Amino acid sequence: MELLQRSRRLRGSEGLRRMVRETRADASSLIYPMFVVEGTGVKEEIPSMPGQFRWSLDRLPEKLEELQNAGVGSLMLFGIPAEKDEVASGAYAEDGIVQRAVRVCKEQAPDLYCITDVCLCEYTSHGHCGMLKGQEVDNDPSVELLSRTAVSHAAAGADMVAPSDMMDGRVLGIRQALDAADFATVPIMAYSVKYASGFYGPFREAADSAPAFGDRRAYQMDVHNRREAVKKALQDIEQGADIVMVKPAMSFLDLVREVHDAVNVPVAAYSVSGEYAMVKAAAEKGWIDEERIVGEMASSVYRAGAHIYLTYYAELVAKLIAEGVVG
Ligand code: PBG
Repeated sequence: MELLQRSRRLRGSEGLRRMVRETRADASSLIYPMFVVEGTGVKEEIPSMPGQFRWSLDRLPEKLEELQNAGVGSLMLFGIPAEKDEVASGAYAEDGIVQRAVRVCKEQAPDLYCITDVCLCEYTSHGHCGMLKGQEVDNDPSVELLSRTAVSHAAAGADMVAPSDMMDGRVLGIRQALDAADFATVPIMAYSVKYASGFYGPFREAADSAPAFGDRRAYQMDVHNRREAVKKALQDIEQGADIVMVKPAMSFLDLVREVHDAVNVPVAAYSVSGEYAMVKAAAEKGWIDEERIVGEMASSVYRAGAHIYLTYYAELVAKLIAEGVVG
């Protein structure tokens, strides 16, 4: 055959495939999400997320060291308080679980970049991401508490804050509150394109944060919407977001690309708890090759346009990047 173009010519060896690879990743783009709890001596496995744990603060340094040894330079903290109430007091308490965890991180591993998730759902007795008025989540008073929460994280030493609540105007509220408290240099990574997704199931078990009634569809995005994703990302940037996030990742990679093309700030993608749980479960049954799947998921996220990747598999992805399997 007289074929002038033969695609297989560039696929002939591993070295050549790597030379012409279109997507390259760096472990510095990885963020590891993790859960901290009250108590001592706790390293409790999360049933629906085998290999992921809830850590008490005295044992947290073990994990920090593991992350650093694996070449993962950033983490995102989620707190599980001992007590929850209507107004999410634990979210913005100076000695709240996340605030103390941040101090431990900064003392034990000052080089690890410490990001905090800013939301109320882990701290409210009703499990919603804001304050209630009747059966509804009341937007503006919620923004006030979220802003207070973000400032308390920054005061504890958080390097960056990441609001995940999906209230309107929270990025503006948080930016103004941080600036007023002299934290103008603390960046905001906004969960801008966050869908009302079934993929968060295992997280809600991990954080004990499932809503007591109803669901989150009145504030998180409808999975059918695409143009709204771009609108939300642009809106958050106007309000002061330094980084915008798309979440979940796997089923929403079209939005990662869409947002990547529409904005001029870094884009993050979050492979959420349900993505992790599905891979783990299938791997445990021997139905898939875990490393291979995790590598493929990571490469797809970067290929879609993400600059930053949040994943419970951060350590494995760092290893795969070092081996050249990813990126
Ligand atoms: C808090 C929050 C959630 C996740 C991140 N921040 C849960 C939710 O919105 O219900 C999900 C993360 C995951 O599933 O891994 N609002």
